[in-house]
Amino acid sequence: MAILEATRLAKRFGPVTAVHDVSITVAEGEVAALLGPNGAGKSTTLHMLLGLITPDAGTITLFGMELARHRVEALSRVNFAASYVDLPGPLLVQEVIDVFARFYAVRRPKERVAEMIELLELGPLRRRRLMDLSSGQRTRVQLAKALVNAPRLLVLDEPTANLDPDAGDRIRGLLSRVARDSGAAMLITSHNMREVERMCDRIHFLAEGRVVAAGSAAELAGHYGAEDLEGVFLKVARG
Ligand SMILES: Nc1ncnc2c1ncn2[C@@H]1O[C@H](COP(=O)(O)OP(=O)(O)OP(=O)(O)O)[C@@H](O)[C@H]1O
Ligand SMILES: [Mg+2]
Repeated sequence: MAILEATRLAKRFGPVTAVHDVSITVAEGEVAALLGPNGAGKSTTLHMLLGLITPDAGTITLFGMELARHRVEALSRVNFAASYVDLPGPLLVQEVIDVFARFYAVRRPKERVAEMIELLELGPLRRRRLMDLSSGQRTRVQLAKALVNAPRLLVLDEPTANLDPDAGDRIRGLLSRVARDSGAAMLITSHNMREVERMCDRIHFLAEGRVVAAGSAAELAGHYGAEDLEGVFLKVARG
């Protein structure tokens, strides 16, 4: 079953057409990627899928429900993390996770918060204020927040962009385990091609607001006669 089906999305900001025509499907249990150059429309697409902005055209169906008509129910099974989302700085790490556990009305919130703190290795930081954390530490809090409602679709906009190579590797391992164990679908953007090759089953390649290629990393490499995804990226991005 398709967890997410977006058809012919378009979005303009004044004179700028950020997304021209984007259709994406994410199947149950699939880890999918949105790739493309800076300004291609990836974040704008994610924000439409999350109901943060309204498309000018197109339809979004989550878990078989049209987002425009079943917003609360559809979004209760979704979550999101991005480095540019500011969580409230004066709150303590454990308070932030607790606030989101209650927003999502998770069962047994105290236990769930403790699980998230353990999963993201936030124990030593749990009484620290968000504003006092490093950006890599904040990323782990973002992911704890994003997993707290056990989402069936996890949307991640450049989840490892601020992480050192070791932390990035651990987070990739963690996300792959979460995908495997919980069967959650994920939709990820990244500029790290090796990360996408390692984690993602299917890639949608965006350029200038359009999906210009889709398939597995191996399929795309074959199609474009490239050695790897980095080679595909350079070929597609340079037209
Ligand atoms: N709120 C906004 N107002 C005006 N223009 C916007 C707005 N949001 C995005 N844009 C424009 O839309 C285009 C697509 O931006 P978007 O953030 O979706 O790109 P992206 O693919 O996520 O890029 P990056 O890899 O740099 O994160 C860009 O030209 C951007 O300047
Ligand atoms: Mg972006």
